[in-house]
Amino acid sequence: MTSRGPACYQRLRTDARLADRVDPGWSMRQGDVMEASARRLTAQKGGPLRGRIKPPGDKSISHRALILGLLSVGQTKIAGLLEGEDVLHTAEACRALGAEVLRTGEGRWQVRGCGVGSLLQPKAGLDFGNSGTGMRLMMGVAGGHAVTASFDGDASLRQRPMRRILDPLVEMGVEVVSEAPGGRCPIVLKGTAEPAPIEYRTPVASAQIKSAVLLAGLNSPGRTVVIEPEASRDHTEKMLQYFGAQLSVEAFGASGRRIALEGRPELRPAPIAVPGDPSSAAFPLVAATIAPGSDIVIESMMMNPLRTGLLATLIEMGADIEILDRREEGGEEVADLRVRAAELRGVDVPAERAPSMIDEYPILAVAAAFASGPTRMRGLHELRVKESDRLEAVAAGLRAAGVEPQIVGDDLIVEGQGGEVAGGGLIATHLDHRIAMSFLCLGLASRAPVAIDDMSMIATSFPTFRFQMERLGALFS
Ligand code: S3P
Repeated sequence: MTSRGPACYQRLRTDARLADRVDPGWSMRQGDVMEASARRLTAQKGGPLRGRIKPPGDKSISHRALILGLLSVGQTKIAGLLEGEDVLHTAEACRALGAEVLRTGEGRWQVRGCGVGSLLQPKAGLDFGNSGTGMRLMMGVAGGHAVTASFDGDASLRQRPMRRILDPLVEMGVEVVSEAPGGRCPIVLKGTAEPAPIEYRTPVASAQIKSAVLLAGLNSPGRTVVIEPEASRDHTEKMLQYFGAQLSVEAFGASGRRIALEGRPELRPAPIAVPGDPSSAAFPLVAATIAPGSDIVIESMMMNPLRTGLLATLIEMGADIEILDRREEGGEEVADLRVRAAELRGVDVPAERAPSMIDEYPILAVAAAFASGPTRMRGLHELRVKESDRLEAVAAGLRAAGVEPQIVGDDLIVEGQGGEVAGGGLIATHLDHRIAMSFLCLGLASRAPVAIDDMSMIATSFPTFRFQMERLGALFS
């Protein structure tokens, strides 16, 4: 990660050259200290949050928009793309595989793709930074083509399990040339020009596994079928249909789905308007709920039912959320939400709801800390393999802020403090943007300020978080 310290740190670095002559290595050690403090951010309680906020473009849809642009012949125009680091890495990977990717304005991008079956051999390794979604989806894309590509990322991504993607891809004929121990990246894949059409049951409800298989199946001469035990976000399926692929979706069991894709479609470029990300909207949504006197409007949040588990849970807890102006934008339902501060009560969140709010548990745990009574969030095993072990990171963060959580098996239990959370402490974010933003939100309503050790990862998904939250009245320093 490059340093982006303010001017005062640059000046100190120049002075440090002198000190280095006296004590070799001094500036490096001081540099570490300065870097670390430059990455810290503290949130403190101020007045109520007021005003309007538009969350950035949905991250999942932004990755897929670029990827489908690469896989169709001609020009795909995208509006409202999330310009976060995760998505920018995917844009780079699309370029490396042969697409022309241009930024034409704020959130406006054009992709001139090469089409299914015609990707180019990348000249260098593909770097996905912090993004599991980017890496896993692109493994499917490259795996289904006659290219050899290497996949790598930052320290967090190097910890994340990739076997779940490699297993189905190997069944389809992809060769794993090399991998780090435990099926981790860096990984080199030799793709196949003839991916075998398979029927694959995903072992966990994961849109990333489903999408990797479907994207590899695009270049298959037959039909690729994915069966998921519980429905996960369906953006890949919807976008493939929108680009002209023949894809059918049926119910499977009580809450699962069976998706069948005919291989080798001629994907047609289509304009994409990316709706507001509910996983980013989650932060102002909870912050306004727990900061007394707040009254905000969140504009154009995507209401896809496979993404709104947090909204349902907060409403059950007694949150004051008015859903205004439900409408359709770019193939997804969106709405504006008026959110006013409210007293929350603890609830039991069933495991079946997890896929529809999988990224929202850290911020739900913060809301639960302010509720009265306990909140039990069930079936959170997948949280252990996100950008950090989120189950442990959330529990440790809550403890540092004076709340006593318990982890029982795969469940997280948070004893609500009835609106009065102590706060304080320095939260370890473990290179995890959602841990960082969740605990900053906690600090906006707790008695003592809350500091996070590293704000830099926020740029992966919500680069304007600080600016937009400050416009609502949040106090960060
Ligand atoms: C995503 C799927 C989810 C989610 C991630 C984005 C996607 O992961 O956690 O942030 O865009 O497909 P899993 O599908 O592995 O649960």
